Amino acid sequence: MRTQVGIIGAGPAGLLLSHLLHLRGIESVVLESRTRDEIESTIRAGVLEQGTMDLLSESGVGERMKAEGALHHGFELAFEGKRRRIDLTGLTGHSITVYAQHEVIKDLVAARIAAGGALLFGVSDTSVHGIDTDTPSIRYHYNGEACELQCDFVIGCDGSQGVSRAAIPQDLRDDYERVYPFGWFGILCEGPPSSEELIYARHDRGFALVSTRSQNVQRMYFQCDPKDSVENWSDDRIWAEMHARVDSADGQQVVEGKIFKKNIVGMRSFVSTKMQHGRLFLAGDAAHIVPPTGAKGLNLAVADVRVLTDALRAFYVENRRDLLDRYSETALKRIWRAEHFSYWMTRMMHRLDDASPFERKLQVAELEHVTTSRTAAMAMAENYVGVAPV
Ligand code: FAD
Ligand code: DHB
Repeated sequence: MRTQVGIIGAGPAGLLLSHLLHLRGIESVVLESRTRDEIESTIRAGVLEQGTMDLLSESGVGERMKAEGALHHGFELAFEGKRRRIDLTGLTGHSITVYAQHEVIKDLVAARIAAGGALLFGVSDTSVHGIDTDTPSIRYHYNGEACELQCDFVIGCDGSQGVSRAAIPQDLRDDYERVYPFGWFGILCEGPPSSEELIYARHDRGFALVSTRSQNVQRMYFQCDPKDSVENWSDDRIWAEMHARVDSADGQQVVEGKIFKKNIVGMRSFVSTKMQHGRLFLAGDAAHIVPPTGAKGLNLAVADVRVLTDALRAFYVENRRDLLDRYSETALKRIWRAEHFSYWMTRMMHRLDDASPFERKLQVAELEHVTTSRTAAMAMAENYVGVAPV
């Protein structure tokens, strides 16, 4: 089989890239190791930045997001028994939408299939070849057969556990990493929202986050030991922890509901530079990871794809290579901004067992600052909605 752009991975990065290339008349094939059912039901991120919302809408896959997602103009910071609002729209003129990642995936898969796009699920043994040449290829197994996809470019959108990153020789790239000694326990529950807006809570017992999915389904998280097991957490224990961390002194309380999903994720920051070698380009989690506190992971994947789409269009339509040559440099500016913001939010909001009592006081001082100084609040809001200058 032959195509112009061979894409490994049908996450937000791979699917959106394939969709945007199609709109520009560029052909691609997406190879995904999981089933359609699996990718459409894996629970992950929920916050779409203004730029992500706009790109999905402009490219014709934003209808359901607009109808079913919830537009938010601010969020709350809870600390020391009080809640203070960050007025995202008042401070930046922009907003965010809470719409689950797997819903974005469903919309993109439907768009690719409706356009007759080649999207292969359940491939295995994917490997990348010839990226130093003008005729790279991807080898894989599909329905028990050994196959080869020849292409002009290979794009690694295969997430943090994929095979593409390792195809860039280690001595040509620098990896930067920080692993955090805590994780997030995530739940989905049936019940009404606890709050109209997201609540990010800092408490001496640990961080907690109240998010939402719809009027009847809520998403919440709390800081936990990444090695802990969901079996150790009964529903009662979870609600006791959420109340302890989020309820405010003036009586505002987390609303309990029937919990139907529990999971634990570890947290790390990671950046691989460069994000390209020869005819191979990496996008999304394949190249970088952020801790989820700043809600940036999915949005960074989308931002990479926007840069890469422009660069591939310039190559095919204008016969220019310069944008492709500068891809890593262009994408990394935004990536490092988001890495810093995510790290900063994480350090400010979590219980840091390695921190001294002095540093814990500094966390509170910083929260007081971002919730009382318009300038500090604006810096936070610009980063959160995704329009911070880099
Ligand atoms: P992915 O979504 O990881 O997609 C990669 C795809 O490639 C997958 O479908 C995978 O099956 C496929 N693949 C992997 N290897 C191969 C191979 N060898 N061959 C073919 N296909 C392959 N971000 C937030 O902002 N907030 C959150 O709450 C949040 N929660 C998260 C929870 C979890 C468990 C994880 C893992 C991530 C979470 N993230 C969160 C991050 C966010 O979901 C990611 O940043 C986003 O999914 C990145 O998209 P992507 O397309 O780059 O990669
Ligand atoms: C959600 C996830 C995040 O990482 C975040 O910062 C805010 C909300 C969510 O899943 O709704």
